[in-house]
Amino acid sequence: MRIVIVRDYEELSREAARKVKTRLAARPDLKLGLCAGSTPEGLYKELVRLHRDEGLSFKRVQTFNLVEYLGMGPGDPNSLGFFISENLLRHLDIPETNRHVLDGRAENPEKHCRWYEDLIIKAGGIDLQLLGIGRVGHIGFNEPGSSLASRTRIKKLDEQTIQDNSRFFPPGRTAPERGITLGVGTILESEEILLLASSANKAEIVSKAIEGPVTNQVTASILQLHPKVTVILDEAAASCLERKEYYKYAEEQRRRKGE
Ligand code: GLP
Repeated sequence: MRIVIVRDYEELSREAARKVKTRLAARPDLKLGLCAGSTPEGLYKELVRLHRDEGLSFKRVQTFNLVEYLGMGPGDPNSLGFFISENLLRHLDIPETNRHVLDGRAENPEKHCRWYEDLIIKAGGIDLQLLGIGRVGHIGFNEPGSSLASRTRIKKLDEQTIQDNSRFFPPGRTAPERGITLGVGTILESEEILLLASSANKAEIVSKAIEGPVTNQVTASILQLHPKVTVILDEAAASCLERKEYYKYAEEQRRRKGE
């Protein structure tokens, strides 16, 4: 795991965008896995800026959304598909046919999940998967107790997750209790993973995910077994890491060597 600790959220967003840009330069037909949540908003803003002001092209990119609420289609303004579209996709030059979304209103959600898995395989797999981390340590909607070999499926959301998601809903409307998510096993098949975490309320769970045991109680901890993961944290999110100084030192060495 490459742990990159930066000063604040702005730097985190720029650093993550740099990473995407580098991958895109090496592979213009990048298969990019997109996550939702507040954390990637700055990254998405920066990618939109790079496209608009610096001509960064995404026209051969294919995207795959990580999650959706069960019962919501991508056109629903509260859906995660809508969020990703509003914050990123509609500002880029990715052809409509290359934007793959989970549809929580699919007639047969189980079949839809299998179809999505096939779609990823047919595309040749995800090259770079973007991830945030929930306060329960989830990646996607893989809540504590998820099988570490799970595939794309419907998942009952944890109470904490429902509560955290409620902030995106208008007063009086509660966040959905179930979601569709790429499985832990599906995520692990991505060639490379970029996990972002910002702010002090993620510090404790980040330390469990990075320095704790691999456990289905913190599904992000499985990333310890993946060969190519970069974690970008701001100082606040990194504040509970025991080996923080070592990570900083190691990163400085890598940078010196131009890695
Ligand atoms: C949500 C999403 C995740 C996201 C996480 C953290 O429930 N399913 O994809 O990473 O929670 O969200 P935030 O970045 O807003 O803290």
